[in-house]
Amino acid sequence: MKKHLYLFELIAVLSAFAILSCTDSKFDEQPQLPPIEEDGGKGEIPVSGYDEPYRPLIHYTPAKNWVNDPNGMVYVDGVYHLFYQYNPQGNEWGNLSWGHATSTDLIKWKEQPVALTKDELGDIFSGSAVYDKNNTAGFGTSTIVAIYTSSGQYQQQSLAYSTDGQTFTKYTQNPIIANSTEPDFRDPKVFWHEESQRWIMALAMGWKYAIEFWSSPDLKNWTRLSSFSTDIVSCNRGQWECPDLLRMEYNGKEKWVLIVSVNPGGPVSGSGIQYFIGDFDGRQFVADSYNYPLWLDYGMDNYAGVTWSNTANRTILIGWMNNWNYAGVVPTSPWRSAMTLPRELKLIEYDGKPLLANTVVREIETIAGEWQNVTSESLNISGPYQLRLEIDITKDGTFSLANESGEYLEIFVSATTGKLVTRRTGNTGLISFASNYAIPTIKSPFNTEGDKIILDIFVDQSSVEIFTQNGSMAQTNLIFPRSIYNRLQTTDMELKAQIRPLDNIWM
Ligand code: FRU
Repeated sequence: MKKHLYLFELIAVLSAFAILSCTDSKFDEQPQLPPIEEDGGKGEIPVSGYDEPYRPLIHYTPAKNWVNDPNGMVYVDGVYHLFYQYNPQGNEWGNLSWGHATSTDLIKWKEQPVALTKDELGDIFSGSAVYDKNNTAGFGTSTIVAIYTSSGQYQQQSLAYSTDGQTFTKYTQNPIIANSTEPDFRDPKVFWHEESQRWIMALAMGWKYAIEFWSSPDLKNWTRLSSFSTDIVSCNRGQWECPDLLRMEYNGKEKWVLIVSVNPGGPVSGSGIQYFIGDFDGRQFVADSYNYPLWLDYGMDNYAGVTWSNTANRTILIGWMNNWNYAGVVPTSPWRSAMTLPRELKLIEYDGKPLLANTVVREIETIAGEWQNVTSESLNISGPYQLRLEIDITKDGTFSLANESGEYLEIFVSATTGKLVTRRTGNTGLISFASNYAIPTIKSPFNTEGDKIILDIFVDQSSVEIFTQNGSMAQTNLIFPRSIYNRLQTTDMELKAQIRPLDNIWM
């Protein structure tokens, strides 16, 4: 009997250890770093010519250092604030702080001093920010309040506030939601719920595959309301992170969308953003029954995407353009990782059901040149651009984006299977930095009725974002060619193609 008990205890200890260690295994795989400097790593804003190999020219990147999830996005007084997971001291994951950039048009960004750095409660993990115009928290009218995870021995939720949108003061009574039991308890996303006159927080429970909802009248005192999870196995292949609950309109009625990033277990492999559609009554989210998982993006490189707060009737999301499968080794220096293009979300009807569509925000017009018809293989372009292709989806065919070095990204339109297949092979450019990076079949459904598909493709130095024109399908993929693809080739395919240049946002 005793022996059984020992065995039982041993199993319990081992499985607790397994839970703890799988919690952050993706982080453990990142290289170890020296401790943070005296000034907390805030320092000066680094500078860059933004002209290094692979440097994105229409996507936000910090001048230098590691970046992951977008955090705390809030729109205040005509300024879009973008905070993000940032290591002020190196090009690897670690010393997690909130980097900061601002924009008045979501397209051209200005890097700002680091906003939040670690303290005795731990690193500053992901979270959100709200504009507290009615001073519910008592930090002052019209303050920006950031709600983030303090990641130390445990993950707990904390507050910091800012009256100038630049410098933050941490709340003296942090944490606001203490925790000493849950291994994964993070990424608070907060919004104001008018009907209940409460702030609502969505909080991810990682390997428990659950999102908890909490409420508060003042951002400081929180009550747990409910928990959402699903027993659909393919929604639960990895830990749940970075939730966002969105109030949306669908055919004149209100619908709620719960965004949940999942890693691993994305649409191809590694990281991905799934969503659920349903209702929220101020306490509980109940999902309607659909064929879950539903994916916001079918590519490899759109993760941890969440939306801006305080944007009135617009729902604008930005994602981290990378994948935990290989994020730590993508071959860029002195920075690592970019954000996706910002996207406007809408619930549209497809196949008689709601579908969360994402299209690049209309502000892209501010850097777009004139449309031209493509009349030759050469696109006569040397910088980033948008390509619009009209393709017959009743027969199989292939188009490729290529450069003069003979590198190309092949996209196969498979009428037979109804799929668009991106072939990220050794032909695309550098792939040797990670064995799980090259993937020859990154597939998405067309999500298009009729015989034709219109694709809007945004090509930058190290990424290709493909959308159907109404955003019913998106595929975001990194690529590392020697130079930007500036040729369009086809095999067994006739297409109509137009192109317009997009200005380098750093010039
Ligand atoms: C998602 C994530 C979050 C966490 C952050 C840490 O990519 O794992 O859950 O807060 O990254 O950097």
